[in-house]
Parts: sequence; structure tokens; C-alpha cells
Amino acid sequence: MSARKPYVGGNWKMNLNGSQAVDLASKLADGFTAGDQAQATVFPAFPYLEKVGQALTAKNSAIQLGAQDFYHQPNGAFTGEVSLDMLKDVGASVVLIGHSERRHVIGENDILINEKVLASLEAGMEVILCIGEKIEQREANQTDAINTGQLGYGLAGVSGEQMAKVTIAYEPVWAIGTGKTATSQDAQNTHQAVRRALAFLYNDGVANATRIQYGGSCKPTNAAELFAQADIDGGLIGGAALKPEDFLAILQTAAESAGVPA
Ligand code: 13P
Repeated sequence: MSARKPYVGGNWKMNLNGSQAVDLASKLADGFTAGDQAQATVFPAFPYLEKVGQALTAKNSAIQLGAQDFYHQPNGAFTGEVSLDMLKDVGASVVLIGHSERRHVIGENDILINEKVLASLEAGMEVILCIGEKIEQREANQTDAINTGQLGYGLAGVSGEQMAKVTIAYEPVWAIGTGKTATSQDAQNTHQAVRRALAFLYNDGVANATRIQYGGSCKPTNAAELFAQADIDGGLIGGAALKPEDFLAILQTAAESAGVPA
């Protein structure tokens, strides 16, 4: 039986306007009552972070506020960027790092990703580090090599103690927003390989304590099977996180998977 608390993130990406974001947050706050069984964070776009945070706080919600990105320097001449202190100032306590859209659309590399991981842990933020292979890498049997590589680079210099604030999100790039989900067995195999890599980088204690989320076309219809796998500890949700009923159903599934013997 896993002692890990299931964890679900809702990555809203570049979607929703301000009133839609606040409306979604208040519906989620009303519907999510399983904070003891599952952890939840939503990641709105920058301009709405504060409003969404206020909507969650107004309802005393257990849902945490997270940011989709930031820049690791404390301040200065970095036009267009947002610092960790600014995020904390508007109530964010979690950051996403290394999402495949930032790696492959915006062009972030492993060195920058590692700098972001180190800076956010230093700042006391919780981190979700995203990793995942592209379809051509999967077809070339490089899935585990790519994921363990991204893991090792991303976590360079992170101590075993700091790992208590790190969650890994495995998001196969070919499954994101495509409707194609990894089979639960394929996802489990990769999650198991990632956990082995954590044991190699740290030790069995850290490997067993670290949550590994699955992301990529996760929906209410496939969440139960995915979350029932021994090494899948919840999900990072894109499209389905924009619909309150879908995201709440996924959160409920995660809560129900808590303590289920694997
Ligand atoms: P989808 O759930 O839309 O496939 O997105 C997954 C994702 O990228 C979450 O970060």
C-alpha cells in the first residue's frame, strides 16, 4: 500500500479570461471536499493568479494556487519575466517547471530548468517537475533514457531533504492534448522506471516518498485505471481541468485511490 497522498494539478495553460478563471476556481472550491485524501493545485495564467487565489481563499478551499512558469532571478532587467517573490506575493505556493510546451514550443533547456528548480526550492516553493518523451523518441525505444535524463538534469544539486517539496509529472509529449493516452500499463512501466531512477539518484526512501503524476489526455473516464497503478500518484490535467465537473470527478477519483493497495 502506498503512503503517498494522491496529487492532482489543473494546468489551465493559456486559456480562460479573468471571469471564467474566477468562476472555475469558485466551482472547484465548492466541489472539492476531499482535501484530507488528495492534494490539488490549479495553475491559472499570470494575470489571473491573484483573483483565482482570492476566490479560493474566500471559500477556505484546500486547493492550492500554482504558477505555470517564472524566471529564476530575484529581480532586474528581465523584460517580460515574473519572479518567485512576485508569485509568492500574489499567493502562489507551487510552480510548474519543465512542461513540454515550455521545453519544445518556447525552447527551454535542461540547464534553465535546473536553475528554476533550484531557485524555487531555495525560495520555499513546491515544485512540479515535468518530464516526458516525444513520439519519435518512444518509437526509438528511448523512453526511459529521455525521462531519466530529464530527471537527472532537472534535479542536479537538489538534496534528498529538498525532494520532500518536489513532485514529478510524467507527461508523454505525444499524449498531451491529442486524446491519445498512454495505456495504464505503459504509463506504469515508465513511472516505475522513473522511481528506480530516483532511488539511484537518492535512495529508496526518497524514491518511495516522491509523488509521480501522469499527464496527457487524462480524463474522468481513464483516471481510475491510471491512478490504480502502483507508481501513479495522481495526474497533471490540461483540457479536462477547464471543465469543473471533469476536474472534480478526477479529484474524486484520486481521493478514492488513496490507500488503495497497489
Ligand atoms: P491534456 O490533459 O490536455 O492532454 O494536457 C496535459 C498537460 O499538458 C498538463 O500539463
